[in-house]
Amino acid sequence: MSSNGRDSLPFREKVASEHRSPEINPYVTLHRTFGPPVIAAEDVAVWKGRWAECFGRQAPLHLEVGCGNGFFLAGMAARHPEWNWVGIEIRYKRVVLTAKKLLAADAADYARIVRYDAWWLDDLFEAGSIAGIYVNHPDPWMKDRHADKRLMGPMFARFAAWALQPGGEVRLKSDFRPNLDGLVKGAEGLPLSVLSRSEDVREALPWDREDDVVTNYQSKFDRRDAPVYGLRMVREEGVVPAPAGPRQSRAVR
Ligand SMILES: C[S@@+](CC[C@H](N)C(=O)[O-])C[C@H]1O[C@@H](n2cnc3c(N)ncnc32)[C@H](O)[C@@H]1O
Repeated sequence: MSSNGRDSLPFREKVASEHRSPEINPYVTLHRTFGPPVIAAEDVAVWKGRWAECFGRQAPLHLEVGCGNGFFLAGMAARHPEWNWVGIEIRYKRVVLTAKKLLAADAADYARIVRYDAWWLDDLFEAGSIAGIYVNHPDPWMKDRHADKRLMGPMFARFAAWALQPGGEVRLKSDFRPNLDGLVKGAEGLPLSVLSRSEDVREALPWDREDDVVTNYQSKFDRRDAPVYGLRMVREEGVVPAPAGPRQSRAVR
């Protein structure tokens, strides 16, 4: 694994036509034909630096990474219709489920769900362009030998520090403590610092309750009475170099 953390993780199926068996997964086609609020990976690059145009208005841009079934994105968009919202999700079916939730929440004018690989977010956003980043229950990759597959590490910290405006925040909830530790460690030396941490968000949420939505995964841990950790980080003043790294082949491995 190189220092930027993504060199050995090529973006599979960047183009939906690269999917090995689209006939087996109807969502490969469906997400392409769904229309707004879905943006397919092959159609999104055009919006880099132009998200205000995409939404037809200037508003603070908020990003959720790994939306799953879309409870959080739709719930937060409904609470903050004054912001523009972008969700990123790699799995086709979850993109469509999230899109349906955005439509049901009447949020499709100011929220988009993009099928994309979150290891490559700097393809989609510019430096200092994002007001808030939310990550809920990122995949844990529990085994030590898989630790370098965890998104919550140096690469993501660098992206967040680079893409956030000064004063912008990252809010992370996870049932897996190494995800929080990975992000904090990854941010060492960057102008991205911890505002607060929680050992269980049910007891102490690091942000206002009205700015929180219980996600699908979170509710599983609630039912087991297992802790969900919370981390709130803020972007301080300072310069961050672009998250660089060689672009991998788009071929499916
Ligand atoms: C454990 S689930 C959590 C889903 C949701 N945030 C929740 O809390 O219910 C992790 C989500 O991240 C998505 N994901 C994992 N790796 C990703 C990547 N590289 N890019 C975008 N999404 C990713 C998965 O497809 C999945 O929907």
